[in-house]
Amino acid sequence: MDHPPRPELFDFHGISMTHYFTSNWENVQKFQARPDDVFIASYPKSGNTWLCYILDLLYFGPTSMFLQQRVPNLEINIPARLTASRESVATVLGTDHIESMQTSPRLIRTHLPVHLIPKSVWEKNCRIVYVARNAKDSVVSYYHFERMTVIFPEPGDWDSYLKRFMAGKMVFGSWYDHVNNWWKRKQSYSNVHFMFYEDLIENTGREIEKLSTFLGLSPPEEMERIIDLVQFDKMKTNNNVNMSGFSGMNFKVSTFIRKGKVGDWKNHFTVAQNEEFEEDYKIKMKNSTLKFPIKV
Ligand code: A3P
Repeated sequence: MDHPPRPELFDFHGISMTHYFTSNWENVQKFQARPDDVFIASYPKSGNTWLCYILDLLYFGPTSMFLQQRVPNLEINIPARLTASRESVATVLGTDHIESMQTSPRLIRTHLPVHLIPKSVWEKNCRIVYVARNAKDSVVSYYHFERMTVIFPEPGDWDSYLKRFMAGKMVFGSWYDHVNNWWKRKQSYSNVHFMFYEDLIENTGREIEKLSTFLGLSPPEEMERIIDLVQFDKMKTNNNVNMSGFSGMNFKVSTFIRKGKVGDWKNHFTVAQNEEFEEDYKIKMKNSTLKFPIKV
């Protein structure tokens, strides 16, 4: 299949973006949230899909539908032929999709930085689950993802990619601003449950229990089954969650559910890159009270 050219980055309300996530902006801004909507927010490649699947199972149990259809992305606007969409539509518009949903609550995922979240989400006091992942593993995961995904910019070589990440010139902007600004918002908005990818890896069951408490759900009797279904190997081979039907991704280059490890950065960063990254990290994070479960 012919693919469109890779999108260009441009500045959008202070962050780098591409048209696939900005060209439906009027509808995103005026999106009308419902009080029981639950948002799953994160910087890209931080475990968003993992959380979407966990929440979908907690609320609705196993289904035979694509996760991307059950938990749509708010800001997306892409040609349907690049997705695994079973609908006869030309483009997949996140806002239209959400408005057509029959489920309650609606589970909605987003990668928007906190300042671009539609006003009604705050006005309706919606619950938001934010998942953060350490910067080094995030950039590695993002790199492999961009290599395989035509709706993202061409990543180029690893060294220049790492520099671009440090400069914040990524789709959805700077990792540093994203995690810090969401962390700050959490201090004043009690309906944000802030999670870490590394904690989920360490003890999935414990994190699901905390999440259930936040959502006001009693842990389901089927807890063991859910923990089993959301294990990395199970998700990797589950065609409803692994994006294998998504034609905008080249699975010969990489896989969407790729490695699922903490510390894969060690297989990518050279000693020099690590030193430079850490120096820069200290400066960028010096005023932050956000502490990751592992030392970065
Ligand atoms: P890696 O590329 O490091 O493997 P997102 O869903 O936000 O795009 O995040 C994708 C990352 O989460 C990928 O990281 C992916 O493999 C990882 N992931 C997805 N499901 C997972 C699971 N069940 N357990 C551990 N990691 C998972």
